[in-house]
Amino acid sequence: MELRVVILLVMIFMVQQTTGSWWYLGVLGTSGSLSRDTRQISPVEDNENCDDSPYLEPRQRELCSKEKKLIDVIGAGASMGIEECKYQFSGRRWNCTTFNRTDVFGNVIKIKSRETAYIYAISSAGVMYSVTRACAQGTLVGCGCDDSVRSKETNGKFEWGGCSENLQYGSKFAEEFVDVKEKDVNEAGLMNLWNNKAGRLVTKKQVDLVCKCHGVSGSCSVKICWRRLRSFRQIGTALKEKFDGASLMKINKRRSKLRPISKDMKRPTRKDLVYLEDSPDFCEPNSKFGSLGTKGRECKKDSYGLDGCNLMCCGRGYYTIVKEFTEDCDCKFFWCCQVECKKCRHVKELHYCN
Ligand SMILES: *[C@@H]1O[C@H](CO)[C@@H](O)[C@H](O)[C@H]1NC(C)=O
Ligand SMILES: *[C@@H]1O[C@H](CO)[C@@H](O)[C@H](O)[C@H]1NC(C)=O
Repeated sequence: MELRVVILLVMIFMVQQTTGSWWYLGVLGTSGSLSRDTRQISPVEDNENCDDSPYLEPRQRELCSKEKKLIDVIGAGASMGIEECKYQFSGRRWNCTTFNRTDVFGNVIKIKSRETAYIYAISSAGVMYSVTRACAQGTLVGCGCDDSVRSKETNGKFEWGGCSENLQYGSKFAEEFVDVKEKDVNEAGLMNLWNNKAGRLVTKKQVDLVCKCHGVSGSCSVKICWRRLRSFRQIGTALKEKFDGASLMKINKRRSKLRPISKDMKRPTRKDLVYLEDSPDFCEPNSKFGSLGTKGRECKKDSYGLDGCNLMCCGRGYYTIVKEFTEDCDCKFFWCCQVECKKCRHVKELHYCN
């Protein structure tokens, strides 16, 4: 091989070693940093396209350059995954901290823990969701509704119509785009691929039949139905349940497959999340695994759960601040049409970890 080719290959390998996951692909926008505040995760810039994103693999460039809008749709899906992760983990010690666009989740993903499993699953689900919806809404022109449902039996209760979302297409696209960064030869790669797939399979189950009645004066003599994905919140919640029930695995080297750590443990299904290492406690700041610690976090005084001051503050105790709020109260309606309210003040105690 020519020396230049060798150097190039080594460079690609190094990029993969240091980044190793597909969020670094630059779909999250070029300007500013991905700050800890989720609202500042900037969408993709107008002039950004697949060809000059340094983080994309050749196959990813090929996929996303099929259509100009695709990079926006993928970026929106990735952001959706991050927002949902923050929502689902807001009452936990690790609250899905994000750093910046070159290192979105920080070092937490270097530990092959449940947290990492969730990050991969929700991100892969986000891309699938975003692409599926964009197909149905006509934002993307290379795909559309799922017409195969029309051949399905309906028992005469309704007729297929409208636009059934094409979950198959969305799932396939997310698989091709997201999984390309992983190698199925080592433990970590197998885990990531497993959880990416679990994210897509769980999404596929979160689908509703939506119907509309037609007929004289709302008689519903003709009922037209189509399939639509539930809200992304429901997918995030379903995956959070998988997080709680995730399975600890190890590699079977001979067969290059993951299996439960002990024979007594139930084999996870393909919809379950898997992990390889126990999580750190995230009590103290530790840059090695991206923990900010829980000092200053708000906690609930009377909760025995993870959001309660005892567990959240790791036994360090908490302090209380009394804050005053003003809100409308004793509202009266005057004919017609005015509402007058008094202003009420009330105080609330808020608790924070030492
Ligand atoms: C992004 O965040 C990581 C982790 O905190 C940090 O090491 C890195 O320096 C940051 N990069 C930039 C460009 O701010
Ligand atoms: C998440 O945790 C960090 C550090 O523990 C804290 O600074 C941040 O405010 C928390 N975010 C939310 C939304 O609670």
